[in-house]
Amino acid sequence: MQLDISQLIHNKRVLMCGGKGGVGKTTLSCAIALKAAQMGRKVLLVSTDPAHSLSDALAIQIGSKEKHVVNNLTVLELDPDTEVDAYLERVLGQMRRYVGPDKVTELERQLQLTRHSPGAQEAALLERLSHLLDEGLERFDLLVFDTAPTGHTLRLLSLPEAMAVWTQGLLQHNKRSQQLGSVLEHLTPSRSIDNPLGDPANNPLEGLDERQQKLLSTLLERQRLFQRTRNILSNAEKTAFLFVLTPERLPVMETERAVHSLQHSGIPVAGLLVNRVMPESAADNHFWQSRLQQQAVYLQDINQRMPNLAQQHIALQEQDIQGLAGLEAVAAQLV
Ligand SMILES: Nc1ncnc2c1ncn2[C@@H]1O[C@H](COP(=O)(O)OP(=O)(O)OP(=O)(O)O)[C@@H](O)[C@H]1O
Ligand SMILES: [Mg+2]
Repeated sequence: MQLDISQLIHNKRVLMCGGKGGVGKTTLSCAIALKAAQMGRKVLLVSTDPAHSLSDALAIQIGSKEKHVVNNLTVLELDPDTEVDAYLERVLGQMRRYVGPDKVTELERQLQLTRHSPGAQEAALLERLSHLLDEGLERFDLLVFDTAPTGHTLRLLSLPEAMAVWTQGLLQHNKRSQQLGSVLEHLTPSRSIDNPLGDPANNPLEGLDERQQKLLSTLLERQRLFQRTRNILSNAEKTAFLFVLTPERLPVMETERAVHSLQHSGIPVAGLLVNRVMPESAADNHFWQSRLQQQAVYLQDINQRMPNLAQQHIALQEQDIQGLAGLEAVAAQLV
């Protein structure tokens, strides 16, 4: 089944490119974004890779500020460390209003510790991505995300829950917030987002002073933001998840698992980009014949394991793909 990229570019608002490390996510996100820009869509291409791979692929210096690259195409590279710092600074700012001045130093120390706690980077990135989705969709026709390798992306999507737990942990560190902590237990995601406090007759906000209520409403606002993000990402009308893979054993197996895992969490996968497909004409000696035979096995394997997913093959290029010219050549291959 042929994957129709042009149609996705036309019809969707968000394209997420995921896949195992090194299979070509950055290259193909750039190619798709370029193609979309050429088709007249106003595009924002975003990467969350600390290795600044977008800058490398496009052969231009990008950073944490939006940069206009060619007509209709703007790019942005988010750095997880910078995002954590900014995020913790915001959290600290909010909490300073809540704790007394004598506790601020201790609070800062606690926050420095959480900087390295699992999930802190993801939480910070999720918050930034959520804001990007909220306001980016107003300014751009299409957002293309070059996401980090598979597991990471999947974690990001389960973060509304993880984030709630993390924020709770953070607050519970602070002894004076224990009362608030117990309120936050009521905010677990099993509760409806429309009625996050559970039974209104049993209002846990009672007994909180004004500052505590403010902090609580900030936290609630954040949870709603994440919920909106998940709603956009799991809406197949708006968002398409594409998996990049190469016709080799491990990428095929890992992709199959990731596809199932996403589908299991209610996120539909739009298709597969099978990258680095060797041309048949490569088989002019034993080595290449053997590589081609192996490739044929895995191309078949992909069809059998994921028969319901449309695919598009992208040919292995003679050389690495770098700079606009090289990326445009790949974009021209996409249909
Ligand atoms: N079809 C192709 N033909 C030849 N080279 C390719 C092709 N696709 C990607 N490459 C090259 O493979 C290398 C890895 O690609 P890329 O950086 O896009 O992978 P990635 O999935 O983003 O990696 P990471 O997981 O590290 O972010 C790059 O040097 C790129 O130029
Ligand atoms: Mg990459």
